[in-house]
Amino acid sequence: MDVLEAIQQRYSVRQYRPQPVESEKLERVLEAARLAPSAGNRQEWRFVVVTDDQTRQQMMEAASGQAFVGQAPVVIAACAETDERAMMCGQASYPIDVAIALEHIALQATEEGLGTCWVGAFDEAAVKEVLDIPPAIRVVQLMPLGYPADQPKPKQRLALDEIVFHEKWGQ
Ligand SMILES: Cc1cc2nc3c(=O)[nH]c(=O)nc-3n(C[C@H](O)[C@H](O)[C@H](O)COP(=O)(O)O)c2cc1C
Repeated sequence: MDVLEAIQQRYSVRQYRPQPVESEKLERVLEAARLAPSAGNRQEWRFVVVTDDQTRQQMMEAASGQAFVGQAPVVIAACAETDERAMMCGQASYPIDVAIALEHIALQATEEGLGTCWVGAFDEAAVKEVLDIPPAIRVVQLMPLGYPADQPKPKQRLALDEIVFHEKWGQ
């Protein structure tokens, strides 16, 4: 599978089979995150990988009761150990860095025949309590990981000419 194929095949998986994720697959998925670029190479990302049944149920509750979060055999809490530094452009670097690493995870998971879903609908304080995450750490996103039990739907996306300008804004 080349990169564009992985990008085309990745979709938000919201039903998972109970089958566990093989440790070598999980390791490759996490390696893909480790190799991600980050602002100033600060690598602020930290990942809590959860497989325990009860903990996953608690994470599901913290994630607005989204059932697939508890159903997936693995849930990754993508965190940042950060001083919330902004780049010269004014943007905070840590959410961007964590997001890049998470999408590496999602694409490598696709290559491994696994599914993922970005989850931003969660109560950060509740997730921190469930996972014993210290106050200074930010939880940026959750990502369930496992074998898909659903099917992709056609992608709803804007056309390229709606999102790309050439040389100047609006052209
Ligand atoms: C930052 C972010 C947060 C998201 N949070 C959720 C979520 O909490 N629950 C959910 O079901 N999907 C969530 N999604 C998935 C989006 O709904 C999905 O990516 C989008 O509809 C496009 O569909 P696709 O991923 O299947 O291509 C999130 C996606 C992103 C990028």
